[in-house]
Amino acid sequence: METVLWPPWSWFCLWLLPRLLLSGPSLADAALHPQESIRINVTNLKSIEDIHEQVIFNISFFNGQVLVNDFPVKNGVTRVMCPTVILESGSTTGRIQEVAVRILVHEWPLVLGSHIKLIVVQEEVMEVGGKQIQQEDTTEIEFLVNEEMHVLRYSSFSTPLKESMLYSISRDKDILFTVPNLSGKEVQAPLQTTSQYLLQQMETTVEEDTAPGKLPETPLRVASPSSYKECSPYW
Ligand SMILES: *[C@@H]1O[C@H](CO)[C@@H](O)[C@H](O)[C@H]1NC(C)=O
Ligand SMILES: *[C@@H]1O[C@H](CO)[C@@H](O)[C@H](O)[C@H]1NC(C)=O
Ligand SMILES: *[C@@H]1O[C@H](CO)[C@@H](O)[C@H](O)[C@H]1NC(C)=O
Repeated sequence: METVLWPPWSWFCLWLLPRLLLSGPSLADAALHPQESIRINVTNLKSIEDIHEQVIFNISFFNGQVLVNDFPVKNGVTRVMCPTVILESGSTTGRIQEVAVRILVHEWPLVLGSHIKLIVVQEEVMEVGGKQIQQEDTTEIEFLVNEEMHVLRYSSFSTPLKESMLYSISRDKDILFTVPNLSGKEVQAPLQTTSQYLLQQMETTVEEDTAPGKLPETPLRVASPSSYKECSPYW
């Protein structure tokens, strides 16, 4: 899904270029598997008293793909239902809860004729635990990648959601995904495996839609306790 270039953004990009080239983690650190742990401030309005919370996501770039909590998201706007860590304001221990989040991934060719691209990621949390929330700011993450899809630099900053490109894109065209519920201990598992696992899992899900009854070619080891059991003969 391609989005129309919004004029103010192209200027913003030009302004951003020197900033990106001059700041950010070192090349060696960044090229491996850069990961940003971002915290989005949200307010739960449905309760008697407003509750301020932080929704935490791990956003990384690996094998030419943006991953959100190890779930690969493609260019365009993807709406993902996934469990993630929620931190109540003033608390240091988080809980895991299902959130609905819109994620924008957009590529900009940095300079005409160059293969260096700027990949921009923005997030809009829609629901936490099935309840609508209010979000003022989004965290924008930018990965500067070369032709070989190696990250040269990356950075993140907070920006008002209402001024973001993500906010200006209609929700009607979102691509929807539900990440299998991984509660408690299971949530740790996919983070330790390679992102390839979730890629395969996603492709399998897509395949199953078109070819019902087809067995996944690879065992889904950590999808859920039940599929773990199904796959146990492989071990
Ligand atoms: C998010 O909230 C925390 C306090 O709960 C505050 O310290 C932080 O600056 C806020 N971040 C943004 C981007 O507003
Ligand atoms: C993010 O990654 C860190 C380390 O890789 C992990 O400890 C943490 O649980 C992850 N957080 C989320 C929200 O997945
Ligand atoms: C997913 O897990 C969370 C926390 O473990 C739980 O609150 C929620 O009800 C689960 N959602 C589904 C659809 O099973």
